[in-house]
Amino acid sequence: MSKMIVTGGAGFIGSNFIFYQRAHHPEDELICVDKLTYAGNLETLAPVMDDPKFQFVRADIADRAAMDALFEREKPDVVVNFAAESHVDRSIENPAIFLETNVLGTQVLLDACRKYGIGRYHQVSTDEVYGDLPLDRPDLFFTERTPLHTSSPYSASKASADLLCNAYQRTYGLPITISRCSNNYGPYQFPEKLIPLMIANALADKPLPVYGQGLNVRDWLYVEDHCAAIDLILRQGQVGQTYNIGGHNEMRNIDIVKLILQQLGKPESLITYVTDRKGHDMRYAIDPTFIHDELGWLPQTKFADGIRKTIQWYLDNRPWWENIINGDYQTYYERMYGHRG
Ligand code: NAD
Ligand code: DAU
Repeated sequence: MSKMIVTGGAGFIGSNFIFYQRAHHPEDELICVDKLTYAGNLETLAPVMDDPKFQFVRADIADRAAMDALFEREKPDVVVNFAAESHVDRSIENPAIFLETNVLGTQVLLDACRKYGIGRYHQVSTDEVYGDLPLDRPDLFFTERTPLHTSSPYSASKASADLLCNAYQRTYGLPITISRCSNNYGPYQFPEKLIPLMIANALADKPLPVYGQGLNVRDWLYVEDHCAAIDLILRQGQVGQTYNIGGHNEMRNIDIVKLILQQLGKPESLITYVTDRKGHDMRYAIDPTFIHDELGWLPQTKFADGIRKTIQWYLDNRPWWENIINGDYQTYYERMYGHRG
C-alpha cells in the first residue's frame, strides 16, 4: 500500500491515470494536485471525488510553500508528475508559462521530494524532446539514446525538465524515472488537440483546419496503454532509467482527419488547409523495444478500435466538451484560427 501524488490529474492523461489506478490498485491512496488551468476540469474527476482513498488539492506545482506544506502533511511515497502546459500552439504564442510550470514547477517538486524523502518520482515526458524525423527515412526511430533536439518552446521546456530530473538523480541520488510517450488519444482530451478538435468541428459542420498539407506524421497511442506503461515503470522500472512509450502506429494528419469524417458520415469538403504551425515537426516515431524487453509492455488497443471508442465517447459525452467550447475556448479559437488563411 502506498500514497501517491498525481499532479495534473484533472487533465487528459492524468485523469485517465487516476481511473486506471483506482481500477487496478484500489488499496493505494491517491492525491491529485492540480492548479485547474484552462485545461483542468474537476467534472472529469466526479467518479472518484467521494472515494475515501482519493483527495483533490487545488495547487500550483510551482508554488514552493504550497508544495512543502503538502509534502510535510501527506508524506507521499510516490509522485507522478503529469502537470504541464501541454499545447504546442499555445507555447508558440506565449512561452513564459511553459517555463514556469514545466521547468520551474518540476524543480519545485524535485526539491520537495529531496526535502521530505520519496520512494519514487516519475516524470511524464514526451517524444517531442527528440525533435523530429524526416519523412523520407522511415527506417529511423527515436530510441532512449537519441539526442535531445527540441523545436518548440513546449518541447524545450519538457526537455529541460527531463535534464533536471536526471541531474537530481545523479547529484542527489533522487529515485527518479522518466517516460517519453508519443501522441495520446482517448476520452477527456481537451478539444484544442487534433483529434477532439476535428470531431467537435465535424459534428458542428465547421471547417476542419489542417495545418500545411496535412502530411505530418504522429505515432498515436490509446491513453489507457500509456497509463498502463507508467504504472509498470512505477512498480517494476529501474531508478534512473528513461523509457520510450509508443505503439508503432504512425499516421499522417490528413488520414486521421479523413477517417474521423468518414466515421461521422461528414463530407471531406469540410477540410480546410490553413497556414502551417511555425517550426512544425514533420514526423515522430518511437522505438518501444526497451520497455517491451525490460518490462513486457505492449499496447493493447489497436488504432481502429481506439479511434472508434474515442469518437463514441465524444458522441456520448457532449456536455463535457460543449461546456468547454462554449466558454473561454471561443476566444482562443478565434485568436488561433480566425485569421489563419
Ligand atoms: P492537459 O493539458 O490535458 O492537462 C494538464 C493538466 O495539468 C491540467 O489539469 C492542468 O490544470 C494541470 N496544470 C497545468 N499547470 C499546472 C500547475 N502549474 N500546477 C498544477 N497543475 C497544473 O495535458 P495532457 O495531455 O494530459 O498531458 C499530461 C502530461 O503528459 C504533460 O506533462 C505532457 O507533456 C505529457 N504528454 C502528453 C502527451 C499527449 O499526447 N497529450 C504525450 C506525451 C506526453
Ligand atoms: O508527441 C507527444 C505530444 O503530442 C505531446 O507532448 C503534446 O502535449 C501533445 O499536445 C501532442 O503534440 P502535437 O503537437 O503532436 O499534437 P496536436 O494535437 O496539437 O497536433 C497533432 C498534429 O496535428 C500536428 O502535426 C499539428 C496538426 N494539427 C493540429 C491542430 C490542433 C492540425 O493540422 N490542425 C489543428 O487544428
